[in-house]
Amino acid sequence: MSLSDYRTAVVTGASSGIGAAVAAGLARRGLRVHAAARRKDRLEALARETGCVVHPMDVRDTAALYREFDGRIVDVVVNNAGLGKGFAALHTVAPEDIDTSVDTNVRAVYHLLRAVLPGMVERRRGHVVNIGSMAGLYALQSSVYGGTKAAVHMLSRNLRLELEGTGVRVTEICPGRVNTEFYDVAIDDPRQRSRIKDSGVRELQPEDVAAAVFYALDAPWHVNVNSIELQPVEQIYGGSRFTPVR
Ligand SMILES: NC(=O)c1ccc[n+]([C@@H]2O[C@H](COP(=O)([O-])OP(=O)(O)OC[C@H]3O[C@@H](n4cnc5c(N)ncnc54)[C@H](OP(=O)(O)O)[C@@H]3O)[C@@H](O)[C@H]2O)c1
Repeated sequence: MSLSDYRTAVVTGASSGIGAAVAAGLARRGLRVHAAARRKDRLEALARETGCVVHPMDVRDTAALYREFDGRIVDVVVNNAGLGKGFAALHTVAPEDIDTSVDTNVRAVYHLLRAVLPGMVERRRGHVVNIGSMAGLYALQSSVYGGTKAAVHMLSRNLRLELEGTGVRVTEICPGRVNTEFYDVAIDDPRQRSRIKDSGVRELQPEDVAAAVFYALDAPWHVNVNSIELQPVEQIYGGSRFTPVR
């Protein structure tokens, strides 16, 4: 089982950035792609370009998620919809941003998986791709966003154990900074945003992340690509730096 054997996919957050690149790439490879996001006009433009099926919806609306996807036969589910609302120190974030981030980045992921996994297990065919983040693996002073992505990390690890013997594969993709609308949504203050966006770091492109997704989907059936970390060459994560005393 590899990408060429998969027939159908659900991609959340397909109206921009990584999700749009993944949805377009899967459609080009011949899959029937169900593309979900709130911005209907963007989804319809994607549909005209790629032939994907549009699901204009808010993934935080749990009833809508089950209405659209419960029992639907899908081979691939890409949990990509997400945002960085509250990408600041916890003691300064707007309380509603905590709910928005947890509901979008975590709660919706659980419910979409709950909707499609029983069918995957029954058919012994399926691939879960969760878009995590380097922020879920390394501390970046973003306890709200990082906390939600750390939840996606442990969800992915636990799922692989729960699904052992079912043939369903689980992959987590952890990008560093990607050139998308992410920071426009995450950071309201234009000066703070431009400190990040205009720092001169050559960011990953959405297609770079999509290529990592396709690599995992394309692996031979006996291979589960557990996790991929990818980051701009000019942006290194992890550890702490100090100037050694000479
Ligand atoms: N960009 C980065 O630096 C970076 C790094 C690591 C991980 N990531 C992760 O990558 C994923 C994709 O983000 P991106 O970088 O491609 O940013 P993006 O361009 O802002 O895309 C985010 C997508 O999520 C959708 N979305 C957000 N809230 C939603 C909701 N309530 N219901 C339905 N869809 C919703 C948006 O669609 P609508 O607004 O139309 O609903 C959009 O399609 C996210 O999970 C993000 O955390 C991004």
